[in-house]
Amino acid sequence: MEKPNTDIDWFEVISENYMNTEGRPMSVLESIRKDYPITCHGVGMSLGSSNEIDPKYLKDLKLLIDRVDPFLVSDHLAWNHFNGNRLHELIPVPYHEESLEVIANHIDQVQNELQRQIAVENISAYFQYTSSTMNECEFLSLLTQKTGCLILLDINNIYVNAKNFQFNPIDFIKTIPKKSITQIHLAGFTDMGNFLFDTHAEPVHSEVWNLLETSLEYIPENVPIMIEWDENVPEFHKLETELNKARKIMNKKAKNETKEPSEFIF
Ligand SMILES: [Fe+2]
Repeated sequence: MEKPNTDIDWFEVISENYMNTEGRPMSVLESIRKDYPITCHGVGMSLGSSNEIDPKYLKDLKLLIDRVDPFLVSDHLAWNHFNGNRLHELIPVPYHEESLEVIANHIDQVQNELQRQIAVENISAYFQYTSSTMNECEFLSLLTQKTGCLILLDINNIYVNAKNFQFNPIDFIKTIPKKSITQIHLAGFTDMGNFLFDTHAEPVHSEVWNLLETSLEYIPENVPIMIEWDENVPEFHKLETELNKARKIMNKKAKNETKEPSEFIF
């Protein structure tokens, strides 16, 4: 396969699409990997399950990592696996001391098995648990302290939750230790009228671009950034245009042209 002429300098792949498989998926992945760095982004680790992390899942993930040598391995602060049953959605966890202990132990186990730090991503959610005693950003921050894990900060997910649950998204970003932020996601939500739905089916909304720009002070310079787009996927050049827009915003930080947080109207 010939290397395409593109501005994109790395790719993120969904780990589960390439675990325990051969044939065309692996040949495509290996041909991309020949020319580009990649990250392995998972949706099935289920760090938030109360039962143990599936040992077969971890073994298959380790085999993939050994084969393609990603510069980052990530998954979500969520659960979707319990007693051998898997759901296709990422379900939120309650944020309290007991769940913190369980999830920190799971992250320790995964990092030991994989012999590397992993990044944990904040998710979009449509309900909250009444048993929570802290919010998601405080919980993530404590997880980084307890386990040394990294954070994949999804700016769109923060905006969606901020609108759905009425909090200030800047306060969320400020709470995450800057040094732990290792990657950024952007994506497009769908406005359902009475709530925002994280569909990854639209361009990044202006409010999310605005939030990124307003947050630059709290995000490390040169942090890898990517656009997630899973439905109604546009032509490749449109994805490149969106990525270049993100790069332009990130470069404002280097040139000291960032917005003051007070300029962010929520
Ligand atoms: Fe994401």
